[in-house]
Amino acid sequence: MTSFQNRRQHLASLLGQGDVAVIPTAPEQSRNRDSNYPYRFDSYFYYLTGFEEPNALLLLNHLGESILFCQPKDLEKEIWEGYRLGPEQAPQKLGVTKSFSVEDLDKIAPAFLSNHASMWYPFGVNPVMKEHLERWIDELSRKVRTGVRAPHSIKNACHLLDEMRLIKDAQEVQTMQKACDISSLAHIKAMQFCAQALQNHKELKEYHLEAELLHEFRRHGSEFPAYSSIVAAGANACVLHYRADQAPILSGDLVLIDAGCELHGYASDITRTFPANGRFTAPQRDIYECVLNAQEAAIAVTKPGATFNDPHEASVRVLCEGLLTLGILNKSVHGTLEDVIEHRKYTSFYMHRTSHWLGMDVHDCGSYVQTPSPDNADNATPWSDLDPLKPWSSNAPTSRTLEAGMVLTIEPGLYIRPSPDVPEKYWNIGIRIEDDALITPHGVQLLSRGVPVNVSDIEQLMA
Ligand code: GLY
Ligand code: MN
Ligand code: MN
Repeated sequence: MTSFQNRRQHLASLLGQGDVAVIPTAPEQSRNRDSNYPYRFDSYFYYLTGFEEPNALLLLNHLGESILFCQPKDLEKEIWEGYRLGPEQAPQKLGVTKSFSVEDLDKIAPAFLSNHASMWYPFGVNPVMKEHLERWIDELSRKVRTGVRAPHSIKNACHLLDEMRLIKDAQEVQTMQKACDISSLAHIKAMQFCAQALQNHKELKEYHLEAELLHEFRRHGSEFPAYSSIVAAGANACVLHYRADQAPILSGDLVLIDAGCELHGYASDITRTFPANGRFTAPQRDIYECVLNAQEAAIAVTKPGATFNDPHEASVRVLCEGLLTLGILNKSVHGTLEDVIEHRKYTSFYMHRTSHWLGMDVHDCGSYVQTPSPDNADNATPWSDLDPLKPWSSNAPTSRTLEAGMVLTIEPGLYIRPSPDVPEKYWNIGIRIEDDALITPHGVQLLSRGVPVNVSDIEQLMA
């Protein structure tokens, strides 16, 4: 059995007696006029099928029987658009029970949905498919007098699939490791290219480094960047969602690169911040060491049995210690370390969280809290205890316990905008350090340390 067949069996086992799951792939997206964006399958659909073509849909019943609707063979279309597997080959190639042309979807699919209790469908994935589903249910409802029953409820299949995808199997881990290895090479290439260009007095812009990253991703077989690469020189690093633009990179600048490739459907997500000319200045090093210490503290608490929030809390504590020690937060104004943490005085300099799940999607699916099932409302806060004007987090259920097979990023940062309250030597320094962490049975394994992270290792690499 392939891992895709195993996953279909697993999902089938989670469906209720007489339930059916409908999992469409992603629609094609128009970019402009008759040009589409490069096609990227839907992650849930690919996870269950390994099938990359557009215009496809999987039906699965609780017995584990599966039907794939896919594009029919069509010589004329295949000459223009490329090879199609076709429904004749699909059962043998993908191990599905049956396959039909997607052109017959509306004709055939309702019969497979009839007399099933609940229909599971991933909400929010494919707006076009939603219309199909509503039409099919309407059609079945109209046949009620012939003894046909329409599914009486539609449930969100994401809640089942997210939990499955949260724990990576050995094959997924291997692919994620390869994606991280490629991204690490790309970061190294960009760092070295940057130092060399400046040594040779060449004009250098952010997009030149992006080009190095993309070249390295692609030449190692990555299909796409996992997200738009951030290459931010100098003050641009303080803009969290900056991307690689046209700003010049000058000697003396720090450069923040947040870039990762996607390999066979799996994302990597790495950030490094380095001095453009290869040597940190003293103030840059102060902030860098503070962020690195925060990352080390976070990594030290990342293990099975810890919670998702633990690395964040560990990072925040070390960042706050650093902000106070460096005089960026003034003790006489903001009080002790505990005051700074409790009153979140650090949020002007650290405004994002330390981690997110990583997998097929860069911000991968999976609940961040301990009560993943929406059907299990036992732990919901009673209305009588709920204060709707408080931050949501104070009403939130407990943070998720980490388990072997989960992959999360660990990415503390500090972003220091000019302010009269902050020593001027730190103005416009933006630093983030991001690695990808696999929870193992006894601890944590960093998948992305093919690219150095210590000050001396970075300086040596760029020398
Ligand atoms: N690159 C996106 C993120 O770090 O969350
Ligand atoms: Mn990230
Ligand atoms: Mn990132």
